[in-house]
Parts: sequence; structure tokens; C-alpha cells
Amino acid sequence: EFKQLVFSGVQPTGNLHLGNYLGALQKFVALQDTYECIYCVVDLHSLTATLVHDDLADQTRGIAAAYLASGLDPKKNIIFNQARVPQHAELAWIFNCVARIGWMNRMTQFKDKAGKDRENASLGLLAYPSLMASDILLYRATHVPVGEDQKQHLELTRDIAQKFNNDFSKRISALGYGVEMEVGEERVSGFFPLTEPLIEGPATRVMSLRDGTKKMSKSDPSDLSRINLSDDADAISRKIRKAKTDPNPLPGDVEGLAGRPEAENLVGIYAALAGVPRDQVISEYGGRQFSDFKPALADLAVEKLAPINAEMRRISADPAYVDGVLRDGGERAGARAEATMKQVHEIIGL
Ligand code: ADP
Ligand code: NA
Repeated sequence: EFKQLVFSGVQPTGNLHLGNYLGALQKFVALQDTYECIYCVVDLHSLTATLVHDDLADQTRGIAAAYLASGLDPKKNIIFNQARVPQHAELAWIFNCVARIGWMNRMTQFKDKAGKDRENASLGLLAYPSLMASDILLYRATHVPVGEDQKQHLELTRDIAQKFNNDFSKRISALGYGVEMEVGEERVSGFFPLTEPLIEGPATRVMSLRDGTKKMSKSDPSDLSRINLSDDADAISRKIRKAKTDPNPLPGDVEGLAGRPEAENLVGIYAALAGVPRDQVISEYGGRQFSDFKPALADLAVEKLAPINAEMRRISADPAYVDGVLRDGGERAGARAEATMKQVHEIIGL
């Protein structure tokens, strides 16, 4: 069996928001006590949309500071940025040759981000999932905590692992590099694990507070309703009070949230921030008006997010400390990456 290992990453583009926190960072922190974890700032990924960034190194430090401020311990986890470990790009190239163009063309994120003028999107944007598969499989990670938007990319990662394992099955077993694992009913042996996504809880897809049918996203600069981790208490409260809702009171049971995207979103956010199931939120607030619920949600969000904001500022004031964390994490990640790639070279015959 593969050793249990968690890997995840966040791009250094734009402000981190509540969706990133609940879908990713908060989960990273929850996992650090039970799993061995590697958390990456995926700076190479941020080149796919725009190659030229004014302050990429600063943005990278900002994400690292958010990791630390959210409670990730740099001693317990490996925290680093992707560009420090060149094997990410090397394995991604090999995966480009494993994956099929059709697999990439089917990715909904590519279709969304490339828009109508697909011929003019960067080749990197199309190949993004190969690099993501490389991030994960370079460490032979078994679990990846992410938001729901990444589910399709995780499935592609499994497809790449499986095709590599199949294409090279003879060499893998001749070299003795196969690891036994369960695939459906069967037990098979492979070099790369079939990584499982960890997409759980009440806020796997936080929606915009302006439009309950759109994902809260870093990449929509026009959405002023977005709650950023850099917001102060006043901004957080104001944005929650202004959140779009329907005119009805909260339903008496969780089933009553169906077809009410704004209510469902706010209840999910409350539940995730409080660390309780949605039923518990409904048993307290069911039947009450949004004019009661929103101030309670605003207080809770401020209570949870304001300390992170303060800690982010404190950590960011010491860029040398953040660089030290990334350097140390990069060395630890690099040693593992080198060991994997040595075996990959032997398997391929490079
Ligand atoms: P974004 O989608 O905001 O540009 P990233 O692609 O860097 O941000 O995503 C970083 C992490 O945050 C990923 O695990 C992603 O699934 C998660 N995430 C992003 N947006 C949301 C959201 N609205 N709700 C829940 N999780 C999210
Ligand atoms: Na995303």
C-alpha cells in the first residue's frame, strides 16, 4: 500500500477569499495532525493565464503567509513554492506525453478560462492538469483536499497515473517499483497511486454573495461582494449584510434549502465557519429572517477571519522569515522529488 500523504496547492494570483479558506486552507489545517502533508504555492500554474506578473514573488509570499496565518505549522508540514523544485515541470512534460489531447479538451475549467477564443489560449492553460497531476504524483500523494471545482482535474490525475502504470507495467515490476493497491474489486500493482480527492463538508463550493449561482472566485475582479482574507472586520460585516437573498425566512429543515441558492450558500458558510453540520445551523435559525441570521453570520465570520487577517499582516511584515520557510520546505520537497524522478527515469529508460 502507498503511504498516506496529503498534497494540495493554491495559485499566487489575486486575493485569497472565503471560498479558498473554507474549500482549501481550513481543511489543510484540519489535516495536519492526522496526515503527513505537503502544501505548495503553485507559482508555475499562475503563468498559464498571464505570463507577465508585476509582483509574483510577493504574491507567492502572500499565499505562504496565509497558510501560516491559518495555522499550518512549517515544522509539521512541508510548505514551499513549486518553482523551487524543477522536477514538477519535468514530470509534467512526461505526463504531457502520457495524457491525450482529448482529455485536456474536455476540462470545463479550460473551456471557462479560455473562453471563445480557444486558439489563442496558452498551451500551458490547456496542459494545466498535467502539471497538477505532476504536483500530486511527484510525491505519490494519496489524498488531495480541494474545492469541488477541482474534482474533474483529480479524475484526470487518476487517468494519467493509471495509464502510466499500465504503459510501463512490465518495467515497473521488473524493477520492483510496483506498489499494491485496490482498484475497484481488483488488487493491482503500480508506480503511482490513484489519488483520492478530499471534498467534504458544507462549503466545498462557496458561491458569490452577489449571485448565488456563480462560484466565489479570485479571477473575477468585478465581484466586489467577495470576502477576501485581507478584509478587515467592517468590510466582512458589510459584505455579509449586503449579500443577496430571497425574501423568505430560513426553512425549517435542510431539505428546504433546495432551490434557494443564496440561503443554501449562507447556511453552508455558517456551518463551515462554525465547524458544525448544516442541520445544526437550521435547528438554531430555521424559520428566522435573514435580518436575524446575517448579523449572527457576520459576527461569526469576523470572529474566525479577523485573527487570520491580523496574523497575515504580522507574518508578511517579515518577508525574510517567509522566504526561509519556503527555502526549507523546498529543500525537503526537492529531496523527495529527486528520489521519485530517479525511479521514473529508470522506468522510462531515460
Ligand atoms: P480560484 O478558483 O479562486 O482562482 P485557486 O484555483 O487557486 O483559486 O483555488 C485554490 C483552492 O481553493 C482550490 O482547492 C479550489 O478548489 C478552492 N476554491 C476556489 N474557489 C472556491 C470556492 N468558491 N469554494 C470552495 N473552494 C474554492
Ligand atoms: Na480554482
